[in-house]
Amino acid sequence: MSAGKVQWMLLFVHLFVVSVSAQQNPTPVVMNKVELGFKVDEKGVARYSISFDGKQVVRSSRLGFKVKEGLLLDSNFRILKSELTATDENWKPVLGEVSSIRNNYRQLKVFLQQKESPFLLMNITFRVFEEGVGFRYEFPIQPALKFFVLENELTEFNLTGDHKAFWIPGDFDSNEYLYTTSKLSEIDAWKFPMLSFGKKEENMPDQHAVQTPLMLKTGEGLYINIHEAALVNYSSMQLHVDKANFSLTSSLVPDAAGKKGYLRTPANTPWRTVIVSDKATDILNSKMILNLNEPSRIGDVSWIKPMKFLGVWWEMQIGKTSWNYTDNIDSLSPEGKLIGNGRHAANTANVKRYIDFAAKHGIEGLLVEGWNTGWEEWTGVYKEENFDYVTPYPDFDLREITRYAKEKGVKMIMHNETGASAANYDRRLDTAFRLMNRYGYPAVKTGYVGKITPVGEHHDGQWMINQYLRTAEVAAKYKVMIDMHEPVRPTGLHRTWPNFVASEAGRGNEWNAFSEGSPPEHETILPFTRLMGGPMDYTPGIFKLRNYAPADPKRQMHTTLAKQLALYVTMYSPLQMAADLPENYEQYPDAFQFIKDVALDWDDTKIMEAEPGDYLTIARKEKGTDNWFIGAITDENSRVSNIKLDFLEQGKKYIATIYADGDKADWKTNPEAFQIQKRTVDHTSVLKLKLANGGGAAISIIADSNTVTKEFKTKTRRAK
Ligand code: NOJ
Ligand code: CA
Repeated sequence: MSAGKVQWMLLFVHLFVVSVSAQQNPTPVVMNKVELGFKVDEKGVARYSISFDGKQVVRSSRLGFKVKEGLLLDSNFRILKSELTATDENWKPVLGEVSSIRNNYRQLKVFLQQKESPFLLMNITFRVFEEGVGFRYEFPIQPALKFFVLENELTEFNLTGDHKAFWIPGDFDSNEYLYTTSKLSEIDAWKFPMLSFGKKEENMPDQHAVQTPLMLKTGEGLYINIHEAALVNYSSMQLHVDKANFSLTSSLVPDAAGKKGYLRTPANTPWRTVIVSDKATDILNSKMILNLNEPSRIGDVSWIKPMKFLGVWWEMQIGKTSWNYTDNIDSLSPEGKLIGNGRHAANTANVKRYIDFAAKHGIEGLLVEGWNTGWEEWTGVYKEENFDYVTPYPDFDLREITRYAKEKGVKMIMHNETGASAANYDRRLDTAFRLMNRYGYPAVKTGYVGKITPVGEHHDGQWMINQYLRTAEVAAKYKVMIDMHEPVRPTGLHRTWPNFVASEAGRGNEWNAFSEGSPPEHETILPFTRLMGGPMDYTPGIFKLRNYAPADPKRQMHTTLAKQLALYVTMYSPLQMAADLPENYEQYPDAFQFIKDVALDWDDTKIMEAEPGDYLTIARKEKGTDNWFIGAITDENSRVSNIKLDFLEQGKKYIATIYADGDKADWKTNPEAFQIQKRTVDHTSVLKLKLANGGGAAISIIADSNTVTKEFKTKTRRAK
């Protein structure tokens, strides 16, 4: 049965419409502890406010737009009518953290019209959930507004104090920054060297702009998350911070001509989202962003499946080998052939080595980067025709590799790096996906490193937002799953396009390969920020934690080995890489077992404990089985965590394998030390986990079909 049908069958909607007469402001909409206020003030300005449990979260804040042709949709409004409806439905994501999602909200839609000629119309729809509010603007068909260009969106989020913020700078082209934890009043986007290519004036002009999801914590202990949902045909929203008034204003990423968006009625904006709770765990439990996205547009979803994969990848990241085949593209051999540099990773023999390892260990997929011509001049040089997506380098035998992989039962994952030449990729999309179909590649990793062509466009602007979705749609047509690197950060569109399984769109583990890396707290912040919009291809599973980068022996991972395992559970993604080299996994077959066992698609998820910047423990139930997996991580501080297994089925015995930090483990001085313990557990068990500085714990809890009656415990030590 199609996902669409399942969603429809489970639909249960209460519909009651309360129309309020003209000019009257609607009464507040309440859903449990969340209250939304809306009014049109004496100047005709549309305003909203949000409170949680009686505490103000967003003070009275302006809504509206400036349109390029001098049209102001910012005041002089009156209410034509307002409608109140309610929905309560359940739907099933194709892949997910839970198997069924409740979408329960009250909706207020206000129909506004300006009081003077040309009497412009604008509607605002609010959806009030138990954990927050989403709202969007709608521009109906009307005589005086058809095609229009946005100068800016004026949406405000006026906050109530100088909250603690977890933020990254408002760069239009990169979201791969480290998060800074500071007060709102201390935000300074320019304190970092810019990560994207180009000039600061062009990519990061606002010293006080940050990206979303923005995670906040108030002095009173309220957690607030601001983001957007269903970003389609519109520019990404950044937030300008007024540091004196703690007021945030929407700031849309411009295009090459400085314009913020091109719309045609009927049109709507993405949803602006404010998630709020007094519990950090509720922020991570929220499905509001997914609920605000449209149901799946793909009928037959049987080909969309979770996949674990190895990669001919990390060896290039650490500088051991290269993506490019030659070091001098202008020099040819006497036979007129490219002269290989001897370091090209994607050669047939090496690829077969990875296929063998994947087959031996039951890892389903293999990604190979650098297989196709073009890597010598792939980015940063404005070479529009940089890749053709179909021509392999001379040492990569596509046919033979396909044959060998098939024989060994390994699925190949395509790599389409665009070097940000998106115009070229657009033209070649069908050709690229036809090749994947021909050779049986079920998934592709795409990438957008560098400055965008068409020149002047930004990664997070409307043109590129449309390009990412075009790619996902073409991929769906060819039944290929996508893992996108360097796109805009996700906004829940994997509900609508479930083949758009994962993105990077943030600072992944790879930064530890080629830079000073990311501190131990990084992975405790990402779930509250980047992952709020969707799965992240973080590429966990690095076992050689030190001395891996030939160029810089001082480089090291900022985690223990056990924490690398825990990330498979805490960093949600149905496409997960086992990122390290086969030879490094061979050193630790006992720890590698967890990577082999861990599930990627889930019936249920329990956020056991969480604090952004400090720690996170998640338990998840594998889809369709009784097995559970737990990941616990901490920042630079060690901690003890007592995990109650009361979510296990009563009366059932399970075998828990606990992959924990060694007694003397420490991310900096002794990251490799770990211990493995096996014991029988049931729903009354409590596991005491000791996490080292920068450490973690990973646990597999496998339902014991033989119903073990006798307790048993074993322990393996690998502490150094
Ligand atoms: C950046 C991606 O994040 C990385 O995974 C990839 O290897 C390189 N681009 C090359 O495509
Ligand atoms: Ca990247």
